[in-house]
Amino acid sequence: MYDNWEELEAEAKKCRKCKLWQTRTNVVFGVGNKNADLMFIGEGPGADEDMQGEPFVGKAGKLMNMAFETLGIKREEVYIANIVKCRPPSNRNPEEDEATACLDYLRNQVILVKPKIIVLLGSVALKNILGKEYGITASRGKWIEKKGILYMPTWHPAALLRDETKKIDFIKDLKLVVEGMKTLNNKN
Ligand code: URA
Ligand code: SF4
Repeated sequence: MYDNWEELEAEAKKCRKCKLWQTRTNVVFGVGNKNADLMFIGEGPGADEDMQGEPFVGKAGKLMNMAFETLGIKREEVYIANIVKCRPPSNRNPEEDEATACLDYLRNQVILVKPKIIVLLGSVALKNILGKEYGITASRGKWIEKKGILYMPTWHPAALLRDETKKIDFIKDLKLVVEGMKTLNNKN
């Protein structure tokens, strides 16, 4: 556990705790407002993210940015990170040992950001953060509260590229998030 960003990021940048270090170009640590009330958690870097060292800059990220624009969410005002920080080869899902090794960083990021709401993008994020018993089809679009944080599971933006109908759900779920943020801000 680090209580400052510099040490945490430096540690992650040189990390070799799982085998994914061998094939990465860049460690994709996370991006955005380090004091954000709203955080997004994806699965792991793809080819574009691995090249650029920033999460969600490829096709899925562009789609997410478009949804952000539609809903008035500013990318620079939220914090965005992934379950694993190095790219799984050929975009396979992270394996259990990889996610387990990497999750310490993400937990530390959540502790430092102190978000009120976390959007879980897809099944890998959902299962690793809230537990294997959760399924994305049944859980998406519904609030789950745990230890003072509100979680909203939704489809991974890459899933929207494969199935257009999921875009409607995605926007609907993020609308709930925007409304949730407003309600929380009115309370304080
Ligand atoms: N998909 C993810 O889960 N994360 C990224 O950063 C990019 C694509
Ligand atoms: Fe370390 Fe995570 Fe990269 Fe594995 S994926 S080498 S645990 S930073």
